[in-house]
Amino acid sequence: MNKPLDYIFPDVPADIDLSALRADAIPQHIAIIMDGNGRWAKKRALNRLRGHKAGIEAVREAIRCASDLGVRYLTIYSFSTENWKRPEDEVVGLMDLFAKTMLAEVDELHDEHVRVMTIGDLSPLPPETRAAFDEAWEKTRRNDGMTLVVALNYGGRQELLHAAQECVRRCMLRAEAGGGAPEVTEDLLEQGLFTYGIPDPEVIVRTSGEMRLSNFLLWQAAYAEFVSSPVLWPDFDRYELLRCLLEYQRRDRRFGGVGA
Ligand code: IPE
Ligand code: IPE
Ligand code: MG
Repeated sequence: MNKPLDYIFPDVPADIDLSALRADAIPQHIAIIMDGNGRWAKKRALNRLRGHKAGIEAVREAIRCASDLGVRYLTIYSFSTENWKRPEDEVVGLMDLFAKTMLAEVDELHDEHVRVMTIGDLSPLPPETRAAFDEAWEKTRRNDGMTLVVALNYGGRQELLHAAQECVRRCMLRAEAGGGAPEVTEDLLEQGLFTYGIPDPEVIVRTSGEMRLSNFLLWQAAYAEFVSSPVLWPDFDRYELLRCLLEYQRRDRRFGGVGA
């Protein structure tokens, strides 16, 4: 933990028992499917983009809280390979929001020693959006604090396809170099994942009450604890993250064995 608990959570709601949080069982990697921005806006008779904008504050709070708790990796699902199906004005607005937010936040993230990277195929993104994330990576890549992994135009199937193609390429290179029969191993496949070198998330949180992965981290989710929060993403705060972590810590993780 990087900060004292009562500093991170100064005003704990009555339904939460902060003393139940085990400091030795904070996940190394939390992944969040940030969902419900559109419904949040609809409830207020606002344009969907206003919901996405309101979600930025929740992202800020989740980053700060996770970093203070000593989490090493926080992955946020920001745009899926399927989200291109949305109306053009929403897609354009989201891309613009990603670029502006990254530019506005990078200095503060850097000051907090956060490393900002992306997973997904950034090549179809508008140049300003790509540039904002490229610059954030260049600026923060040497930081030793939490790594913020922004999943942008990310899809689990796209990633697995990419990993399989990489496997074939490497096996062919090996065969050409006279290295013997190509062998596809779990490790070789993992080397082709966008998350290579990053531990699998122990917990995946999805907000807005939905219970599906929507093509998120399909390989890496194998033994993640799935926690569903009823809260719409713009209303998500540090206390809701705390509730999710307490729920995660109550789970009996058996990994196919017989457990404790
Ligand atoms: C999640 O909120 C944000 C993105 C997918 C970019 P949604 O926009 O999916 O919100 P709902 O599900 O329509 O409420
Ligand atoms: C998943 O949410 C993608 C992101 C949070 C970026 P969606 O709202 O796109 O997922 P579905 O359509 O409800 O499965
Ligand atoms: Mg949604």
